[in-house]
Amino acid sequence: MSEEANKKAKTALPQAPDEEWPEAWMMCDDDKIEDQKKENRQDPNAKITAADMRKLGISFWKMDADTFTYPVKAVPWDPKDAVDPRLSQLRDDRGYSYADIITIHPDHLPGFDAKIKAFFEEHIHDAEEIRYILDGSGYFDVRDPNDKWVRVHIKKGDLMTLPEGIYHRFTCDETDYIKAMRLFKGQPVWTPFNRPQEEHPSRKAYVTEFMEEKKTDE
Ligand SMILES: [Fe+2]
Repeated sequence: MSEEANKKAKTALPQAPDEEWPEAWMMCDDDKIEDQKKENRQDPNAKITAADMRKLGISFWKMDADTFTYPVKAVPWDPKDAVDPRLSQLRDDRGYSYADIITIHPDHLPGFDAKIKAFFEEHIHDAEEIRYILDGSGYFDVRDPNDKWVRVHIKKGDLMTLPEGIYHRFTCDETDYIKAMRLFKGQPVWTPFNRPQEEHPSRKAYVTEFMEEKKTDE
């Protein structure tokens, strides 16, 4: 992990070393997906590294979700209630003033199947998406610079941020269970803007910062 990446992430709390980043891989084409909750890898598997994910603007911290416990649901959950000093540090470094805790599981989320389908629609947000996984696991899919899907398998203890304007989608994995803290700077707005959003200012800003930079890298 370079200091550069931490500087970019505007945090004193160091991001996780590469070996602690979540497993990620290139997905098979969408028309080959029979079940979105399966791994849907390419054959042979094409691994995506922590460095690849950082280039897309993703930041990642490994947290202790065993020592510190959280309610099943708390909307909102006051980030000032954080007893984990590392979470407090991150909250203060990055100005996360809002948090809530949600559990995605057929028993805890009314309309589970419809919601899982909606989460899997490709979209952007006009703000960063921050997820701290308190229990369970799931998949975040993000577009790479060639507009192909990268699948990131996040699980308990993972705290990941997706930059504003990145095309992404989410699904539970086959366990159908994930408990996550959602953090936000200011009043939370979770509105998804479904693709296409090429003219959206957040999309344009993302392309300028992460896609064009990448093109000059090659
Ligand atoms: Fe999202």
